[in-house]
Amino acid sequence: MIRAMRPVIIAANWKMNTTPADAGELAREIARRTRVDGVTRVICPPFLCLAAVRDALAEADPDVAIGAQNVHHELAGAYTGEISAPMLDGLATWVILGHSERRRDAGETDELIGAKLARAVEAGLRPILCVGEQLADREAGRAIAVAEAQLGGCLTGLDPGRLGAAQLVIAYEPVWAIGTGRNARGSDAAAMAEAIRSTLSGLGWGETSRDVPILYGGSVTAANIGEFFAEPSIDGALVGGASLKPDEMAGIVGRAGLTAAARLAAIA
Ligand code: PGA
Repeated sequence: MIRAMRPVIIAANWKMNTTPADAGELAREIARRTRVDGVTRVICPPFLCLAAVRDALAEADPDVAIGAQNVHHELAGAYTGEISAPMLDGLATWVILGHSERRRDAGETDELIGAKLARAVEAGLRPILCVGEQLADREAGRAIAVAEAQLGGCLTGLDPGRLGAAQLVIAYEPVWAIGTGRNARGSDAAAMAEAIRSTLSGLGWGETSRDVPILYGGSVTAANIGEFFAEPSIDGALVGGASLKPDEMAGIVGRAGLTAAARLAAIA
């Protein structure tokens, strides 16, 4: 059977940056500089800036998707300061879950992230689930075991068919590479992508594990993105710091476009 080609995805994680006053302009500028065939672009601003980004992109480039950076694991109730998945209706169609900064700062566990995943999928959001090891884990040769355990913890009990239909994306983000200027090697990211797909297979995904897009994240720039796209198992990037810079995004998405075109040519 010929499998459909996996999409090429560049997701921008703006983290706790921008305001409703300036987010729209930044989104517009990034959209204008990244018009490249075959690349799925996603911008994930802070909650407060979602409406401004939505309005700017509706006018500038409706092909750019919008994502949130988190959702709560319940639908509604007494959860002061929280945002639930159904509240994102009309504002976002993607969501980042399990980012290491939330695991670190908000104490999110794999079990909690799994509950958020379920809520996100019910609300029709496309999840980007983040996994990745600490430096000590990599140095001790435990990187793959850590990611496998995170995946198992997040996904156990969730229906692979449902997550597959929601087009789950996984981002491999080694914690030591996030915001440090120190990126993983392309070959290590590729080995991790293979391990992630075989873990999914073991969790009941079977052959459809080959269809799950896997992104690399951690100090991605226009200068190093080529190293990751040189690996056929890597389908794109989750970009933090560099995603606030239109020049960087233009370079990153431009490089992604080459991979998208090559993949298309390979199946034509
Ligand atoms: P970074 O962040 O590109 O700034 O390292 C990536 C991320 O946290 O998603």
